[in-house]
Amino acid sequence: MATTLPNSFFSTLVVFVLVASILYRATGEADDFLVELNQSKPVREKLSHFRVYWHDIMSGRNPTSIQIVKSPTSDGFGTVNMIDNPLTLGPELSSKLVGKAQGFYALASQGEVGLLMTMNFVFIEGKYNGSTFTVLGRNAVFNKVREMPVIGGSGLFRFARGYVQARTHTFDLKTGDATIEYNVYVMHY
Ligand SMILES: *[C@@H]1O[C@H](CO)[C@@H](O)[C@H](O)[C@H]1NC(C)=O
Ligand SMILES: *[C@@H]1O[C@H](CO)[C@@H](O)[C@H](O)[C@H]1NC(C)=O
Repeated sequence: MATTLPNSFFSTLVVFVLVASILYRATGEADDFLVELNQSKPVREKLSHFRVYWHDIMSGRNPTSIQIVKSPTSDGFGTVNMIDNPLTLGPELSSKLVGKAQGFYALASQGEVGLLMTMNFVFIEGKYNGSTFTVLGRNAVFNKVREMPVIGGSGLFRFARGYVQARTHTFDLKTGDATIEYNVYVMHY
């Protein structure tokens, strides 16, 4: 007993020192990795609202919405379209182009026509040129108003959060072409 006690004390001490040094190094690295930034003056968060028209063009020689995945079932479930859809100020395609909606949508509902929308709104106009925000949400296209979250942004839309409300302006059952009014409500800096 008299000889084993100092041994176990020694090995406990070694383990303690090892664990302590590992913990010390781990927290030291975390401190270097993350730096808290301090704003010289607080920046005010703004709430912006604007309206654009989103054109899903499937027909003609220059479609902007192209089916890239075909559904294996008759209800269309699983269909995916890739889009580079014009965003204009007025409902006519010929009205002022302010940006594009780039991304894809997928038929994600087996019960009704419910889309998963995944798209970046990228603007080309004035001070908004190059700024983007991202819309990710559910779009039950035959509902009068569909609300989808804005989950982030870049440029003037950094830290963006908010929502869009989509309303069908025109929908051509024969060609599949649609013009949708998007009202955007977004908080940003
Ligand atoms: C910001 O302030 C915090 C708290 O006072 C400080 O720990 C941190 O180092 C500062 N960051 C910079 C980048 O100066
Ligand atoms: C937007 O930015 C692009 C590239 O930075 C530039 O080529 C273009 O002229 C700009 N458009 C406007 C309207 O400022």
